[in-house]
Amino acid sequence: VKRFASSETSRNRYSVARLAAESDSRFIDLICTNFHECGLRYDTDAVRRLAADYFASGRMSDYHPDPLGAEPARTAVSDYYKAAGLTVEQEQIVITASASESYSHLFSALLSSGDQVLLPRPSYPLFEEIAVRAGVEPRYYDQHVKRNWAIDPDDIVRVVEPETAAIVIVSPNNPTGYILSDDEIRAIGEICARNDMLLIHDEVFSEYRYGEDACGGLPRPAALCRNVNTAAINGVSKLLAAPDLKVSWMAVDGPDRSTIVEQLAISNDLFLSASPVNQQIVARLLAGSDKLTGRIVAEVGLRRDALIDAVAGCPALTMVPPRGGIHAVLTVDAGSLRGGMDDESIAIALLEKCRVGLHPGYLYGIEDQTALVVSFLPPREYIRNGMKRVCDFLS
Ligand SMILES: Cc1ncc(COP(=O)(O)O)c(C=O)c1O
Repeated sequence: VKRFASSETSRNRYSVARLAAESDSRFIDLICTNFHECGLRYDTDAVRRLAADYFASGRMSDYHPDPLGAEPARTAVSDYYKAAGLTVEQEQIVITASASESYSHLFSALLSSGDQVLLPRPSYPLFEEIAVRAGVEPRYYDQHVKRNWAIDPDDIVRVVEPETAAIVIVSPNNPTGYILSDDEIRAIGEICARNDMLLIHDEVFSEYRYGEDACGGLPRPAALCRNVNTAAINGVSKLLAAPDLKVSWMAVDGPDRSTIVEQLAISNDLFLSASPVNQQIVARLLAGSDKLTGRIVAEVGLRRDALIDAVAGCPALTMVPPRGGIHAVLTVDAGSLRGGMDDESIAIALLEKCRVGLHPGYLYGIEDQTALVVSFLPPREYIRNGMKRVCDFLS
């Protein structure tokens, strides 16, 4: 078909180098974020039993989809928040198939064409793409490595315009590992209240918190900004290391929550993407998830320690220790940047010469050309060996 003949999907230099590196048995992927490939998964026997229960119960011939999602799944999510000290009724929850899909519903059902959404920078490139496809204009507020990624509310005030309809906070953050404090969230809540903005909290890494941040609860807008409309995005892809079960949710709160939920339900009803089988399985899995999540987060915490040790032993690199999430930003010392190399050329050289995969920082909107993004989801020996290659190369 002519209309689609000239799509711009040609490969860039990084992806060509990446493909070549992947075919080499020595390749170490230090940007892998696939829990299963990194050896982290839920109890497959338990899932098999729960699936068998679903089919044995005859529910499969009784398909009555609810646009908000299956009631047992919403109750399990409500209980998840209850355990975290937050009251979120099941009427406030909308089940989707993925966090990405939740973003899509929020942007397309609640925002209008021409509206702006404020996104953190750096951040995962996904949100920008979804916003653009929903006809919403992405704008940015910056988080700086020099401030250990802390947010300055004045930076946000400066970029708010009359068209700004929503702001996204990602906490714990991908890729910085930053966790917003109560004060930062309250300050952002005040900006939202003054400007009638929706506050979207991407909390998909809610349980992936380390060190002091593991103690106490995750600071959440729903608890801290009661006078603001908020939507939390979460799901089992990270929470239960179950990206394949495709069950996520939006938890809506604030003065207009009924209207917002209604709009989201209409949008969700167009697709009904989350499978009833999986919602049933997730409802049961979530109920006893503390141990499973605790085990996975403890293991990822050890992998984070391995990354921190590796960076400490490499004079060419610095890193703000990630407080949460599964990513970190490495800053390459300017003196180690040979002959005009930038983040992209380093990432390509690491693929071509060392067979190690990392992302250049520009993919996440980091503009200073000295940043590389690493994941600490891979096993510890991968992190140690991969980071040694990176360090040897830069030295
Ligand atoms: C911060 C953040 N939000 C959302 C997503 C998308 O999650 P999902 O796989 O549930 O669509 C990701 C994916 O890694 C992410 O890092």
